[in-house]
Amino acid sequence: VAVRAEAGAGGGINPTIRKEEEKVVDTVLTGELAKPLTAYCRCWRSGTFPLCDGAHVKHNKATGDNVGPLLVKK
Ligand code: FES
Repeated sequence: VAVRAEAGAGGGINPTIRKEEEKVVDTVLTGELAKPLTAYCRCWRSGTFPLCDGAHVKHNKATGDNVGPLLVKK
């Protein structure tokens, strides 16, 4: 499988998000606390990570990539 990614610092996929952490892990609550629809970022460019803020559109235009959010529906 070919993997195309815009290189961040050190060649990683994550250019800026929570770089002080050894591993970026987020927990999503399900059940009564869940919203009807939530979009989670998979491009690592969102200013509201782990939520999608639409930054993938700019990234895709700049790189020719085709990434988009993970949609979680209740
Ligand atoms: Fe990253 Fe939308 S901002 S997937």
